[in-house]
Amino acid sequence: MAYQVAVIPGDGTGPEVIREGLKVLQAVGQKENFKMDFTAYDLGGDRYLKTKFHAIYLGAIGHPDVKPGILEAGILLKTRFTLDQYINLRPVKLYPGVDTPLKDKGPEHIDFVIVRENTEGLYTGAGGFLKKGTPDEVAIQESINTRRGVERCLRYAFHSCMKRNRAYKLTLAAKTNVLNYASDLWMRTFQELAKEYPRVKTDYTHVDALCMWMVKNPEWFDVVVTDNLFGDIVTDLGAMIQGGLGIAAGGNINPDPGGVSMFEPMGGSAPKYAGKNVINPLAAICAGMMMLEHLGEKKAAERVEKAVMQVLAKHLKSLAAGEMGYTTSQVGDLVVKYL
Ligand code: IPM
Ligand code: MN
Repeated sequence: MAYQVAVIPGDGTGPEVIREGLKVLQAVGQKENFKMDFTAYDLGGDRYLKTKFHAIYLGAIGHPDVKPGILEAGILLKTRFTLDQYINLRPVKLYPGVDTPLKDKGPEHIDFVIVRENTEGLYTGAGGFLKKGTPDEVAIQESINTRRGVERCLRYAFHSCMKRNRAYKLTLAAKTNVLNYASDLWMRTFQELAKEYPRVKTDYTHVDALCMWMVKNPEWFDVVVTDNLFGDIVTDLGAMIQGGLGIAAGGNINPDPGGVSMFEPMGGSAPKYAGKNVINPLAAICAGMMMLEHLGEKKAAERVEKAVMQVLAKHLKSLAAGEMGYTTSQVGDLVVKYL
């Protein structure tokens, strides 16, 4: 018989006492004719301090052989929640040379950011079933909106507006005509905070109407703030009007001191293109640029953006996988060349 045992020596005197414990366990096993296979795990404070990161750079999560939901919940959502990355920041910017499906709109019309709340709303997993599997089944998915959570998200949005230095316009998107509790809290908090930021013009739209205006008059927007699910939906629309998933990037941000943020291209793992060197890396490169900006490397971020713009304006035939006129690695090389 061989027992498989995981060993976590840990911190302080932990490794010393465990060493003696292992000695005894092995010795007694020999006398009594069993084996113990120990697998050591390097976990604890030392490891934590050694491996504390300033940021996370994520490619894509999602695998054709893994049931949908497992990786999303276990890796992506878990990271957002555990690290309290309460902002999902998604710039919607159309670069010159990029096609938008919006008729008669160009880069001068499409340049705004969407600030999505990233830790509450319908995403917390609160809810449950009643009478599951019966004809009377009830499924409840609760939208959690805390004053603290809503306020910190709105504050971030007001600050983004000031930092962008453009139209100083912040649009809240919610559904005050129907969500009489959740949207009410958002609206009241928004109106209260507006008094603290007199420089910022505030505006409100129902989220369904936002979908219309993002298509018809995207130039109206500077910063848009909204809750988790609405934000998830409208940022996909945003990605399309800026040229698609080949270019759209986002950040999961914990803006608090010591916070660790995660940056990612918006596209998924696209298994059908995997390993072919045909996918567009610009969204991931733009996520890297957002990470640099977040880390305070503003000049480096600007350089990356300018280089990306050169590649878009001078080289790529299309942003779509396999239709760029270049391979994935050639696009990366081009961006480096223009740095
Ligand atoms: C996104 C994605 C995720 C979300 C999924 C994969 C859980 O759609 O980042 O927008 O809904 O937030
Ligand atoms: Mn999404």
